Amino acid sequence: MFDFIDGASGDETLRGLNSSAIDQIRLMPRVLIDVSERDLSSSILDQKTGMPFGIAPMGMCALAWPGADRALAGEAARRRIPLCVSTASSMALEQVIELAEGHAWFQLYADQSDEFVDELVGRAASADYQVLVLTVDVPIPSVRPRDRRNGFTFPMRWGLPQLRDFATHPHWSLATLIHALSHGMPQPMNYATSSGKTSFVRNASRARAGWSFLAALRDRWPRKLVVKGVQCPEDAIRMKSMGIDSIYVSNHGGRQLNAAPAAIESLAQIRQAVGANFPLIFDSGVRNGEHVVKALATGADFVMFGRSVMYGLGAAGGRGLSDVLDLIGHEVSTVMGLVGCRQSGEIDSGCLASQHGNPAIHVISERVAE
Ligand SMILES: Cc1cc2nc3c(=O)[nH]c(=O)nc-3n(C[C@H](O)[C@H](O)[C@H](O)COP(=O)(O)O)c2cc1C
Repeated sequence: MFDFIDGASGDETLRGLNSSAIDQIRLMPRVLIDVSERDLSSSILDQKTGMPFGIAPMGMCALAWPGADRALAGEAARRRIPLCVSTASSMALEQVIELAEGHAWFQLYADQSDEFVDELVGRAASADYQVLVLTVDVPIPSVRPRDRRNGFTFPMRWGLPQLRDFATHPHWSLATLIHALSHGMPQPMNYATSSGKTSFVRNASRARAGWSFLAALRDRWPRKLVVKGVQCPEDAIRMKSMGIDSIYVSNHGGRQLNAAPAAIESLAQIRQAVGANFPLIFDSGVRNGEHVVKALATGADFVMFGRSVMYGLGAAGGRGLSDVLDLIGHEVSTVMGLVGCRQSGEIDSGCLASQHGNPAIHVISERVAE
């Protein structure tokens, strides 16, 4: 399970590059500003949020720890941050938005059949989701060597290596077993609750999402529509011209095209391409509060966390998740103060050291400055 969450595609270079490229960005400390009070609240897509960050869509979170979806929804409600619910989530989309008290977006994969996709969009509308996020960077499944090595498939295949893994991780295995006795085995619940009881095929093609699919979805979904998994500026410009409300710059945390650019570089390029006022959401490689401030300074309006929250869940369940979110929030607040910002909305390219003649200019900051 750890390898499924932590792993990436190919030789996994992009996974590390995403974070190290953010590390290279330098922020400029500002002084003699009263930053004793700092306000982390933000807004994105007409929604007010308690923090400038939220939780990225991830399938089968219950594999990290039993009851993960409930914990995620609870934190989203408590902190007023968006939880993006995956098509492959391990709790039905209707139940998550209820537990999250409305602080949820729905992520759509255009996979399996047109009927299933259409039904999912209808269900999201009926459950009162205001934001639909179409993920487009999985036209075909990538090769994830760790999953291959471990024989990790979904639905799970049982063999000696799997039994050995369960036996050597008794804490997780027992907790999952006990939870399963009352709630059933973790499974992609949106499939299980569809009218046709469609079954989830992890390696199904998601190639049906072409430009015409996006145009039709734009017509079908009058509320906020976001496209996730965009790195090419030309694609971003075309989406903007089609009336998409926001672009979610991401390389799936290095889990798709391993040879793709570090996501933070794409963020700078896409910000330049779409102009200053178009909403951009960002993820991939974000591991702490400092990274959030750097992404906001590089052009993001909002930042999402993927693996970081799963690590918290896997380490200590709901308490681990809560600790991770506390730590990140505290770091954002501290770094904001040290760069002289009292509100998260004040974070902009002026926070980058490169904007003040600092010689340690990174190529990313140069692009933002252009
Ligand atoms: C275990 C796991 C499952 C994921 N499942 C989905 C998914 O169902 N839909 C989706 O759009 N992205 C999915 N992603 C990608 C995340 O939404 C996000 O783009 C990525 O994790 C960000 O990178 P980071 O993990 O480095 O923060 C998944 C990522 C992980 C780690």
